[in-house]
Amino acid sequence: MCGIVGYVGPQQAAPVLVEGLTRLEYRGYDSAGIAVLNPRSTAHPSRVVRAKGRVRDLEAALPARLAGTIGIGHTRWATHGEPSEANAHPHTSFDGRVHVVHNGIIDNFATLRSRLAVDGVELTSDTDTEVVAHLVARELAGQDGAGLGFEDAVRAAVAQIDGTYALAVLDTANPDRIVVARNGSPLLLGVGDGEMFVASDASAIVRHTSQVVLLDDGDFASVTPDGFRTFTADEEHTARSAVTIDLTVEELELGGHAHFMHKEIHEQPESVERMLTGRLDDRFGTAKLGGLNLDPRELRRFTRVKILGCGSAYYVGQLGASMIEDLARIPADAEPASEFRYRNPIIEPSTLYVVVSQSGETADTLFAVREVQRKGGTVVGLVNAVGSSIAREVDGGVYLHAGPEVAVASTKALTHMSIGFALLALALGRVRDLSHADGKRIIAGLRAVPGQIAQILAGEEELALAAKELAPAPSLFFIGRVRGYPVAREGAQKFKEITYRHAEAYPTSELKHGPLALISPELPTVAVIPDDDLVERNVTAAQEIRARGGAVVAITHPGVELGDAATRRIEVPRNEVELDPILLTIPTQLLGYHAAVALGEDVDRPRNLAKSVTVE
Ligand code: AGP
Repeated sequence: MCGIVGYVGPQQAAPVLVEGLTRLEYRGYDSAGIAVLNPRSTAHPSRVVRAKGRVRDLEAALPARLAGTIGIGHTRWATHGEPSEANAHPHTSFDGRVHVVHNGIIDNFATLRSRLAVDGVELTSDTDTEVVAHLVARELAGQDGAGLGFEDAVRAAVAQIDGTYALAVLDTANPDRIVVARNGSPLLLGVGDGEMFVASDASAIVRHTSQVVLLDDGDFASVTPDGFRTFTADEEHTARSAVTIDLTVEELELGGHAHFMHKEIHEQPESVERMLTGRLDDRFGTAKLGGLNLDPRELRRFTRVKILGCGSAYYVGQLGASMIEDLARIPADAEPASEFRYRNPIIEPSTLYVVVSQSGETADTLFAVREVQRKGGTVVGLVNAVGSSIAREVDGGVYLHAGPEVAVASTKALTHMSIGFALLALALGRVRDLSHADGKRIIAGLRAVPGQIAQILAGEEELALAAKELAPAPSLFFIGRVRGYPVAREGAQKFKEITYRHAEAYPTSELKHGPLALISPELPTVAVIPDDDLVERNVTAAQEIRARGGAVVAITHPGVELGDAATRRIEVPRNEVELDPILLTIPTQLLGYHAAVALGEDVDRPRNLAKSVTVE
């Protein structure tokens, strides 16, 4: 949801900014732009270049020489105003002195725009961000020329805005520094040797430094080549220190794959193995989850579990709820985090709230955390991004250790979330009635997962063929029952996200109550048919579809008798029944991927979407 980057130091800023924006492009790709200051040039003390579209379009628009060793950049996911050059960041103040990039939403921008317009300021974009540039410039100019200093001007401007922001601001009269502010949108500083960086996340600057300062909401920072000063609205100096991040440039490269999504799907056997290391306790048949910050007695006191996440994370949450009910016998359910706080939820002290997020920055999920905490509840997180806002705000949690996920369509992080829920369910179960033997059974099942994923991935060719057959259909169903239903929901989500085909998930049992009317030779179905108690009913439902001319791709287990209920059979190895959905999901990743490739779509950057949804 917009990426921002900044550089100040001895290097030429433009290439550093462009490289950073390329890494941040997953956060939005409606437009891109940079502003670079060059105090040596009286003709052009600052230059702004912006382009609609991708960072590569910005690169094409850059002049051969764009001198300057300080600058800011932005890649946009449009909220206010269509994707266009005029709406691209950086935005510039009426007097040309101030340049601003922003990630977030200024809620009171309409009021501020009207006020500025009344004062004769000409607004040149439809964005909410532009007002910030004008407000800072007005504070710098002051009345009768007695303006504020740069840092104070940003502070005074920010005091006038409501909403969420990560802001980076340049002032042509202070060409040695970038001033930044954070509230509700991620922002960090990168500490180099005689140079400093600003970024939405560490991927933008990992080539240059592994030392980062994670800013908190309410933080401001003044960033110069030699270092930084952090402050707040009320304090002139706050203590913020750098931490070392565990991220390599190689992890952000394609590494021989055509797309990041393909790379990430294939990383799963290894990444899951890594995630499980040190977390399985054979002796007691349980999971070791020290980060939860809850001892067994505390874990026992919860009588209910509520899982909150958005999009695919919510679907995995549904799966997690069934794992918790199965293994721990605690009532559990999942709810979209985006809806949660708007229904004034009743927060019970005896409920364990679990938020789940890859990015750890999803605004809806973060606000759900705060809603629970405001009302005195306990909330733990299953989060992938280390040091992210959600990871920092929850009362405890489990890091997913999936490594960076670049493709907008999430795959491996979701698998890690499922494993995270299995571990949590195991830990909750073992402080209740789950037997030692059952605990060990689940541990053995988890140990088998990496190898079984590898086995499924080895069948990629067959899956690619099935995907090619599905791709031309304008619409399709994904169906499953009970534990298979979240698999179907996620399968449909993946398919629609990257192929732009209408893919609808339905509980298999509900088909005959309406949607069966849509079945025809033009509308294929992907049916999740595990070898469980419902296998016969699921096969019957598939037969009902076949009888009406619909094609059925069955994702099933070895030995399941499908007869003529499926036009294509995709087998996944059997695990424990509680863990089977983790494996049943893997083929749906490749179905979506190969269908999108067959259709020639931009797999890693689907239209209208962004990886990290940091606005409501
Ligand atoms: C998944 O493919 C989607 N891009 C999306 O639904 C995603 O899972 C959702 O936005 C939540 O993101 P998070 O895990 O970073 O919180």
